[in-house]
Amino acid sequence: MTDCDVLVLGEINVDLILRADEIAPAFGQESLVEDATLTMGGSSVIFACGAAKLGLRVAFVGVAGDDEFGRFMRRGMAARGIDVEPVIVDPAVKTGVTVSLSTAADRALLTYPGSIAALRAEQVDHALFDRARHLHIGAYFLQTGLQEGLPALLAQAHARGLTVSLDTGWDPSETWNGGLSETLAQTDVFLPNAVEAATITGQASPEAALAALARRVPVIAVKLGAEGAIARQGKDTTRAEPLPVQVVDTTGVGDSFDAGFVYGFLANWPLERTLRLAGACGALATREPGGVNGQPTLAEALEAIREAGQPPHPQDD
Ligand SMILES: Nc1ncnc2c1ncn2[C@@H]1O[C@H](COP(=O)(O)OP(=O)(O)OP(=O)(O)O)[C@@H](O)[C@H]1O
Ligand SMILES: [Mg+2]
Repeated sequence: MTDCDVLVLGEINVDLILRADEIAPAFGQESLVEDATLTMGGSSVIFACGAAKLGLRVAFVGVAGDDEFGRFMRRGMAARGIDVEPVIVDPAVKTGVTVSLSTAADRALLTYPGSIAALRAEQVDHALFDRARHLHIGAYFLQTGLQEGLPALLAQAHARGLTVSLDTGWDPSETWNGGLSETLAQTDVFLPNAVEAATITGQASPEAALAALARRVPVIAVKLGAEGAIARQGKDTTRAEPLPVQVVDTTGVGDSFDAGFVYGFLANWPLERTLRLAGACGALATREPGGVNGQPTLAEALEAIREAGQPPHPQDD
């Protein structure tokens, strides 16, 4: 018996979001911003919180420092119903921090990696695989400690009947390897954005990148920001138009999208319905500052889809 739908292998860090209409920080000067929010950070944690908000049972494996930021993160995940028992507290590392300078137009991120890169594959207790139906890995390129052992770990998870989803995020080293091919070969659901898909495949258009990735991974969604998303499963391709939203902050939209997509995948929904839910989860996450504060419940996401006048799926009623 599984007691958890999704096991997340991920990075743990806080996000400090400083928001203003315009921000132009300069050394030697003090600039004022309009709002500051300390909140749950890290792609994988934001994914985990989004999945839990949708009603999935989630457990998290990652490394946190034995410090205030680490306690904030474990408390925050637990308060959202996530099982944080498997989180490893390592006094030798400091919990990571991202400072986001956020305007409605764009944002600049400053990250101290700390615990973000600390998780190694050999620290993951394989007994956890018997508890879950699905494994998700976010921010693959930031989790440099995990990369080497990941293909073998995913093979173990597959052998125990789990499915696997992956979001690479951006690669700050811009080398785009770290064993990604071997990891993609063990991935059932791949969730890049358009730039990531283009860089990984060498195909500039999202449609061509989707086609190239479909030769390697069974299910793919390519996120197109304010233009929505496209997805493919076998020969089935579909597009979701973006929901109209008043964007406050785009932190974590991609990870909230991933949570909606994995929800539909695990519920065996048709691809079109899954992509539409994912798009709604991404769009609604922009409502509030921070990655997790605007994340919808399943009912809220389905209601937003109805309100936007998108054709309802027969099963949505
Ligand atoms: N301005 C927007 N309006 C409506 N929907 C949006 C908007 N921005 C994002 N979305 C939805 O959220 C999804 C994910 O956003 P995006 O493409 O920016 O992902 P990402 O680049 O992975 O984000 P992140 O910066 O979190 O990694 C989009 O595919 C879209 O469905
Ligand atoms: Mg992303």
